Amino acid sequence: MTQGYRLTANASLRDRNTFGVPAMAPWLIEVDDASALADVLALPQVVGSDSLVIGGGSNLLFAGDAPGAVITMATRGLQLLSDDGQQARVRADAGVAWHPLVMWTLEQGLCGLENLALIPGTAGASPIQNIGAYGTEVGEFISVVEALDRRSGTMVRLDREACAFAYRDSVFKREADRYLVTAVEFVLPRTPQLRLDYAGIREELVAMGVGAPTARDVGDAVVRIRQRKLPDPAVVGNAGSFFKNPILSQAQADALQVDYPTLPVFRGDAEHNRKLSAAWMIEACGWKGHRDGDAGVSAAHALVLVNHGLATGAQLLSIARRIADSVHARFGVAIEPEPKIIGARW
Ligand code: EPU
Repeated sequence: MTQGYRLTANASLRDRNTFGVPAMAPWLIEVDDASALADVLALPQVVGSDSLVIGGGSNLLFAGDAPGAVITMATRGLQLLSDDGQQARVRADAGVAWHPLVMWTLEQGLCGLENLALIPGTAGASPIQNIGAYGTEVGEFISVVEALDRRSGTMVRLDREACAFAYRDSVFKREADRYLVTAVEFVLPRTPQLRLDYAGIREELVAMGVGAPTARDVGDAVVRIRQRKLPDPAVVGNAGSFFKNPILSQAQADALQVDYPTLPVFRGDAEHNRKLSAAWMIEACGWKGHRDGDAGVSAAHALVLVNHGLATGAQLLSIARRIADSVHARFGVAIEPEPKIIGARW
């Protein structure tokens, strides 16, 4: 432990990916101390190998084994850095589990992360794809991401602007393999600015009998909705949404809505674009609940691929490709995977 990391040869990754598919790593390195990272990156098992950094493994599909060393941050520090009564700064080490972090902030009376309750994964992974749900994206509340810049070999602190957050995207995703996130700092207000407009939240609060909701109540409502709509990875392997909602120009979205008036269209990330519901298109192509052996599509949510037990990553990838092909053939829209795929190209 004194060296700050643990090294295991020939490690199984089955319990380290929420799809629960079999995969092996020649080396698994669990980092307990971020200051040991430079040493870890200089290890002969890592240098020159196609290494991979994983968090909770909830946004990964192993279509094959990991080609090189797998590094995972096991740092679990969580601190209130400052609090002026209006807002507080919170720092979470990369290995802190996401949902307990959200609940901890709510218990401190801090607001902002409530719509992001119950998302699987770790704090360190949250900025990479700018996790989002029910009208909130984490990037809005991140002040700084601390990371090791593998290009310069130094620790860097990126402010929100430098993180370049967008829908399921950030500099960490665009410059894949450059940054290794070690900690995330959040700025969280004490006065709630509740986001209740996303479909289902208000109805859930009414069903809970809550009149004037607190941020904590909204977090509880989100947990209830997610538990109903999304399969629990602890019960049936999955990685949440497998596809991103495609972003199209307003003109393309309007044209599709003429042919498909019930196709849900949301605001895009700019005035002139629109986000379409990939789930709706996948369901329209007949995939919801589809199953080939143990690989399939959730019967509860068409965006979620599921492993009913013994599916391999290659089998899940094969279904994903067929889904994307059929959506493209019917709607002329290319949908892209959200998880990182290891061992195959999309
Ligand atoms: N819909 C269908 N069939 C389905 C599911 C949904 O037609 O099986 C349609 C419905 O009309 C529904 C609309 O799609 O109103 C939107 O569904 P939902 O609210 O579930 O949202 P989503 O766009 O499918 C996104 C995120 C989820 C997040 C929810 C809630 C992406 C790729 N996914 O899904 O994130 O929980 O919104 O905010 O943006 C994840 O990224 O892993 C994830 C679960």
